[in-house]
Amino acid sequence: MTEDPEVATRRIARESLDRDDPTGWFENLYAAAAEGEAVVPWDRGTAHQLLVDWISESQPDGTGKTALIVGTGTGWDAELVVDRGYDTTAFDISPTAIETAHRNHPASRAHYIVADLLDPPADWHRAFDLVVEIYTVQALPIHLQPDAIKHVTELVAPGGTLLVIAAARPDNQPDDATHGPPWPLTRAAIQSFTTPDLHLIQLDQVPSPTDPTILRWRAEYLRD
Ligand SMILES: C[S@@+](CC[C@H](N)C(=O)[O-])C[C@H]1O[C@@H](n2cnc3c(N)ncnc32)[C@H](O)[C@@H]1O
Repeated sequence: MTEDPEVATRRIARESLDRDDPTGWFENLYAAAAEGEAVVPWDRGTAHQLLVDWISESQPDGTGKTALIVGTGTGWDAELVVDRGYDTTAFDISPTAIETAHRNHPASRAHYIVADLLDPPADWHRAFDLVVEIYTVQALPIHLQPDAIKHVTELVAPGGTLLVIAAARPDNQPDDATHGPPWPLTRAAIQSFTTPDLHLIQLDQVPSPTDPTILRWRAEYLRD
């Protein structure tokens, strides 16, 4: 009997995490999904609603500016950002995710690239006027999150904006009671994206439209 795709998704994640390979399962999952043997649970086929809301409220003009989409998956968020005029780079650790992004958006002006947030190219340091991080940090085990967060913050150019969208974890839920993936972010984790020159300027907790008991962060930061 063929395995249920949702069961396959959990199995693929667990096998990799049990091997102490916290990022290997993304490629395995996208590759299995490309064969119709698993589902990518976060692949919405559209941009994230909280990014759509931020763009419609802020009306950013990306002309002459650069944007970076972290853990882009199959590219739906990147396409929204490129449409605002940004010279947009979008990266993912999974080569199959990037191939799928190319296939989904064949005429795209975004640059889709395989790269690792935990070891980003040196020339990305403080290089992007807009950095969008949606659900990548929370997809990493909690012990890797501080390093991942630090790398995200180092991508933002002087005067640039960082937008973080993540599932919210209740403040009183300890790490060892959080059984991911995903490992949602505490308020303290959201605060830890700040640095002396990268300031949290707006923080919202928004209920999920499909399940109002699930809360998500939408956090906007600005670099001096
Ligand atoms: C939960 S998914 C979210 C995807 C997309 N941002 C979205 O919201 O639909 C996390 C994504 O981050 C990618 N990812 C995980 N670890 C990464 C890393 N170290 N560097 C780059 N991408 C990574 C995964 O391959 C996956 O596409």
